[in-house]
Amino acid sequence: MLPLLLLHHHSSSHFLFNFTLFLHSNTHKKKKKHPQISSSSSSLTMAFYSFFFFFYFFFICFVHNVYPVGAAAITQCKKPPVIFSFGDSNSDTGGLVAGLGFPVNPPYGRTFFGRSTGRLSDGRLLIDFLCQTVNTSFLSPYLDSLADSKFKNGANFAIAGSSTLPRNVPFSLTIQIMQFLHFKDRTLQLVTAGSTDFINEDGFRNALYFIDIGQNDIADSFSKKFTYAQVVKRIPSVLREIKNVVTKLYDQGGRKFWIHNTGPLGCLPQKLSLVKNNALDRYGCISSYNDAARLFNEGLRHLCQEMRAELNGATIVYVDIFSIKYDLIANSTKFGFSSPLMACCGFGGPPYNYNINVTCGNPGSKACDEGSKSVSWDGIHYTEGANQIVASKVLSMAYSTPSTTFGFFCQ
Ligand SMILES: *[C@@H]1O[C@H](CO)[C@@H](O)[C@H](O)[C@H]1NC(C)=O
Ligand SMILES: *[C@@H]1O[C@H](CO)[C@@H](O)[C@H](O)[C@H]1NC(C)=O
Ligand SMILES: *[C@@H]1O[C@H](CO)[C@@H](O)[C@H](O)[C@H]1NC(C)=O
Repeated sequence: MLPLLLLHHHSSSHFLFNFTLFLHSNTHKKKKKHPQISSSSSSLTMAFYSFFFFFYFFFICFVHNVYPVGAAAITQCKKPPVIFSFGDSNSDTGGLVAGLGFPVNPPYGRTFFGRSTGRLSDGRLLIDFLCQTVNTSFLSPYLDSLADSKFKNGANFAIAGSSTLPRNVPFSLTIQIMQFLHFKDRTLQLVTAGSTDFINEDGFRNALYFIDIGQNDIADSFSKKFTYAQVVKRIPSVLREIKNVVTKLYDQGGRKFWIHNTGPLGCLPQKLSLVKNNALDRYGCISSYNDAARLFNEGLRHLCQEMRAELNGATIVYVDIFSIKYDLIANSTKFGFSSPLMACCGFGGPPYNYNINVTCGNPGSKACDEGSKSVSWDGIHYTEGANQIVASKVLSMAYSTPSTTFGFFCQ
């Protein structure tokens, strides 16, 4: 009953947000060409391509200040990397589908996996790129009974549509933590019984606890027609939930935390198409939505500071996803995107290509040909290409406090 209600609520209003898109299939295409290129016998051609390669590399590394993600940028871990992820559709690698059977149809997944994996993107999410940088496989959703892993590299508790409040509704942050506690108990029972296939005490202690949540809390408030003042008033209770959860994980022995702030909600094509008569900022995003996100982020930044002082021996990294994503939208052409406020997959055409009755993956919707030019995949989630750029910015350490490499937890 509850899950159905939740599902209906979400599918009819603002359902899963977060990102998805892809700009860098661009990157893939170019990379794939190199082997053919190098077999060319023409030195002119070779020169052209070396120039091209150099230019490409320069473009990626300097112009964009982006570090290549993937094979080229793997951190050598000294300890096996273990990651536990909590959050919403920004990080859901198939949990909603596993948990509720909610269908996520093609063209979701078309760019990287070639099939739908339940990720709300055409390809990889930020969390996937981060896993790749520590050379570990993608996180299996905790609820996936057919996962071809024993969760040795961790588990993903993040589920699309999740918020921190209300607390006892699937799959709130609190419920995700309860699931984690169950997972941990059960795993350690198996280890105690002699199994070596599962994460042991050390694994749990050294693991990274990854949290990316809050976007749905703010969006839910707005979609309930709260005034801006009411939306803002609710922020401290959301932050309290996050603090409770981090404290609980710390009490359980967790010491390494990686906490994302929330992106520019007011730049999502879905919000722009559904919310009328709102003041827009200079980039065409809804000012009040972004202001609420900024206030939440300011609170979260303070909370992380506070927790660093209170939780002895903990490393708490705060990552400014808002700035990264806002830069992507404000400077979209520089990153190779066009129409950053228009969904690639949807219905209705410009300016936003979003229609709540004909959303991506449903009959009547259509996906653009070149997803690599879009920031937004489905009006709510980013493309793989956009996620890849976000990942490389995260890895640049310029947006994390304290400035930290993602692989710090497995050293
Ligand atoms: C990544 O992991 C694979 C298999 O676990 C291993 O063979 C490979 O050497 C690793 N690569 C790096 C760069 O650590
Ligand atoms: C856009 O890029 C310029 C130049 O790099 C930078 O100064 C500015 O802060 C960026 N805009 C946003 C909103 O990040
Ligand atoms: C979606 O469907 C509802 C109910 O049929 C209708 O009232 C609304 O105008 C539709 N919205 C759009 C954007 O087409």
